[in-house]
Amino acid sequence: MRPVAYTKQLVPGTKNPEPDFAYVNTFNMKQEKIITLEHVTKRFPVGDGEFAALRDITLDFQKGEFAGLVGPSGSGKTTLLNIIGSLDSPTEGTAMVMGKRISALSHKQSARLRNLHLGFIFQVFNLLPVYTVYENVEFSLLLQNRSASERKKAVMEALEWVGLEKMANKKPAKISGGEGQRVAIARAMVKRPEIVLADEPTANLDAKNAHAIIQTMKKLNEELGTTFLFSTHDEKVMSYLDRLVHLNDGKVAQDELVNHKTKTP
Ligand SMILES: Nc1ncnc2c1ncn2[C@@H]1O[C@H](COP(=O)(O)OP(=O)(O)O)[C@@H](O)[C@H]1O
Ligand SMILES: [Mg+2]
Repeated sequence: MRPVAYTKQLVPGTKNPEPDFAYVNTFNMKQEKIITLEHVTKRFPVGDGEFAALRDITLDFQKGEFAGLVGPSGSGKTTLLNIIGSLDSPTEGTAMVMGKRISALSHKQSARLRNLHLGFIFQVFNLLPVYTVYENVEFSLLLQNRSASERKKAVMEALEWVGLEKMANKKPAKISGGEGQRVAIARAMVKRPEIVLADEPTANLDAKNAHAIIQTMKKLNEELGTTFLFSTHDEKVMSYLDRLVHLNDGKVAQDELVNHKTKTP
């Protein structure tokens, strides 16, 4: 899926088009909101008082977006990703993910939302050291009651997506940092989640690996239609994103659609 922002298209079946009305922005036409945030505020207790990490955030993301929360350290990126990932709830306002209101979910319901529909990629990949690459990727499928043959097919496919099918039997200690983050991508993607949340996924990688990782994710976004939402302050990552939501002091400072047509080689 290429970025559809800024493209204009004739509405099918339009009769006698008036120029101004015959064209619509397909970004608005095709939108299917997968994440909706309305007036989201998050306050943490600090000492005797409170600290507002997010302040009145209203935003939505469409299915298939490749977007990032960008901004300096402490601007609220991780706090917002945690709310979208149903790991935390807003203090005020509403966060809807895949039609579910996060703060209304029971512990079990939010675990189910995460297990079936969300993939997580973190700065630290946290692979389980005693398990092989294969077993690390298979792990989330064990919570889903799938047969051994279905699991094997899904795990090998996910390892192929990230180019690690030959590393399946290695232990995490025997692979490089870049390969470790590829395993983390395979682990997030093996369930074919609708949404992948990636919190500073390149922070521990060198430039070459950072580019390779983000290109792999972009390919999966295009081929599978998975929605990706990053948190990052890495310029390399930003150069691939279709939309940059700039956060500053817990507020949306700017929401920018990026047209790559003139940028990508
Ligand atoms: N559990 C918490 N308790 C108190 N303050 C927190 C907590 N989590 C985050 N914060 C504060 O909220 C602000 C935003 O944090 P965070 O979302 O982690 O920012 P970012 O990911 O953009 O670096 C920071 O000032 C941070 O110190
Ligand atoms: Mg963070």
